[in-house]
Amino acid sequence: MTTRTRRTSAPAADSPARARTRAPLRGAAPVEALAPFVDRILPGDCVEVLAGLPERSVDLVFADPPYNLQLESELLRPNQSRVDGVDADWDRFESFAAYDAFTEAWLSACRRVLKDDGTLWVIGSYHNIYRVGRVLMDLGYWILNDVHWVKSNPMPNFRGTRFTNATETMLWAKKSRDQARYTFHYHTMKALNDDLQMRNTWEIPLCMGAERLKVEGKKAHATQKPEALLYRVLSSSSNPGDVVLDPFSGSGTTAAVARKLGRRFIAIEREPAYVALGEARVAAVTESVPPALLRTPSRRTDVRIPFGTLLELGLLRAGAVLHARDGAHAATVAADGTLRCADGFVGSIHRAGAHVQGAAGCNGWEFWHLTGDDGVRRPIETLREAARKVREAPAPASDDDASDAAG
Ligand SMILES: C[S@@+](CC[C@H](N)C(=O)[O-])C[C@H]1O[C@@H](n2cnc3c(N)ncnc32)[C@H](O)[C@@H]1O
Repeated sequence: MTTRTRRTSAPAADSPARARTRAPLRGAAPVEALAPFVDRILPGDCVEVLAGLPERSVDLVFADPPYNLQLESELLRPNQSRVDGVDADWDRFESFAAYDAFTEAWLSACRRVLKDDGTLWVIGSYHNIYRVGRVLMDLGYWILNDVHWVKSNPMPNFRGTRFTNATETMLWAKKSRDQARYTFHYHTMKALNDDLQMRNTWEIPLCMGAERLKVEGKKAHATQKPEALLYRVLSSSSNPGDVVLDPFSGSGTTAAVARKLGRRFIAIEREPAYVALGEARVAAVTESVPPALLRTPSRRTDVRIPFGTLLELGLLRAGAVLHARDGAHAATVAADGTLRCADGFVGSIHRAGAHVQGAAGCNGWEFWHLTGDDGVRRPIETLREAARKVREAPAPASDDDASDAAG
């Protein structure tokens, strides 16, 4: 998976490999200190539980707090059946002031346990997200994006008195304006979106069908979020092995997706029934994506492979003729890795590509093609990928191999 860990001034590349070997941040809690809390759904009030966690110890927070919906009357469908909305005690607050105080308490507690290169997501609806956003900014968090979850199958506005409310908003924030590093898997998001930059509007259906947890035929949790949402959140802003904190676990969606994606989690939930629900859900996740498939290869972050390496590795031979994709230009590969053009020009794959086109610049890896035994012309980029695989092959295992390596 590709990681672009952005710096506020100049974006820089990172990769899971680098993330794993990255030295702990100054002031970050040692890994052992977190061990008792990891991969568990901790029962209790999140502010109290978070007070017991080490400072600067989690990599990512995803929070789906009470929305303070303030539903006053029953909502009925046109056929008079009752809409199964959120009217639980956990969503009731005396006043906006009480809700703001609660928001400040949990957001501060999360900020204390978040590592200095971590980020926080909080999801909400128009009922609460503006209040949450204000508190978040007042506490020093710095908003990176507001992401709009566009529900492809929203609940209709039964009374016909307003527009159908088809969105929820997720604020994605870093700890402070000055925070230089954070994880953002730009290439992974682009790959998930058929090679188009991922926008901040995510069209995802409500959680339904087999994914919706039920108890005795009824929804087990009123606000169970779709796993697809968490899939995107975790894939975009955490690395395999990272610790993801969810202070309002509910049915355990974050924990379940974290496990599927090879992340660790700390979940907190106040209602014992939901703790049990989440534990059962996580226990049922027996398979996670193999580590090798969690990574999006990226030219930006991968090992640099000079063109000459293809010759050294025997993936290409001196004397081979490369062509432009449409066959309009040709050049011969020399033993030193330069290309010889028909008019005598000698240069790198990039300079030769630019020269034959009369262009200012050229990406030779994409421009030049080699014709395979099957007669198909493929960009030499495919050879670079093959070279990368050779370079990234695991260390030798047998004694014979080891002596090769030593020699
Ligand atoms: C909006 S729901 C989260 C739903 C969850 N994202 C899911 O997909 O199932 C909020 C949850 O937070 C819990 N909760 C409310 N206040 C809490 C608190 N102070 N500490 C811990 N949990 C709390 C509620 O019991 C509820 O299950």
